[in-house]
Amino acid sequence: RPVCKIGPSILNADLSNLHHACEKMLDSGADYLHLDVMDGHFVPNLTFGHPLVKCLRPKVPDAFFDMHMMVANPTEWVEPMADAGADQYTFHIEATSDPTTLSRKIKEAGMKVGIGIKPGTGVEAVLPYVDAADMILVMTVEPGFGGQKFMADMMEKVRVLRQTFPEMDIEVDGGVGLTTIDQCAQAGANMIVSGSAVVGASDPKAVIAQMRAAVVK
Ligand code: DX5
Ligand code: ZN
Repeated sequence: RPVCKIGPSILNADLSNLHHACEKMLDSGADYLHLDVMDGHFVPNLTFGHPLVKCLRPKVPDAFFDMHMMVANPTEWVEPMADAGADQYTFHIEATSDPTTLSRKIKEAGMKVGIGIKPGTGVEAVLPYVDAADMILVMTVEPGFGGQKFMADMMEKVRVLRQTFPEMDIEVDGGVGLTTIDQCAQAGANMIVSGSAVVGASDPKAVIAQMRAAVVK
């Protein structure tokens, strides 16, 4: 089974001091940073966009920026995000009619390609595009807000993806914490996003360490 990387979602951090929140996560053992971009159209919430990412980049130069693009027009932000210093660009399959062209555009811009599916989207929707991607994101909550309850029935999608694509990066996002990380890893996820469980903790370093330890080898 692949080793799990843990990427804190800073959505529920103090966004007025995002640089500090990111450094704290990296010092606490985060493997990468999961940055949630919401446009108020694809999801009923707003966060931030490429101007903020551009300001953040020089403050945490070595961090891997995993952009979770919860936006209605993912094609529009590919170049601005690449220019801002994003490393991976995950769009939602529900937001595009042409995942192949979009994936190519992301690669050409120098970023890794992620393709996300919402809880209501079947795994079959993404299967034809996996070869064009570096990572598949299986949402384990309805996108839009942090702090929601983990949907265990999404693990079947992760299992199907892992069986079909042994080498693929598979990410889970939403409601993942100490009590849910092991089932994600067992199903085959190797990139674990955790927001409120880590960012809201008084000792995030301890929680990240406990999460790693909770994955039964
Ligand atoms: C939800 C976001 C997630 C979320 C994770 O729309 O994509 O990244 O913030 O936060 P928790 O772990 O609190 O569900
Ligand atoms: Zn996310």
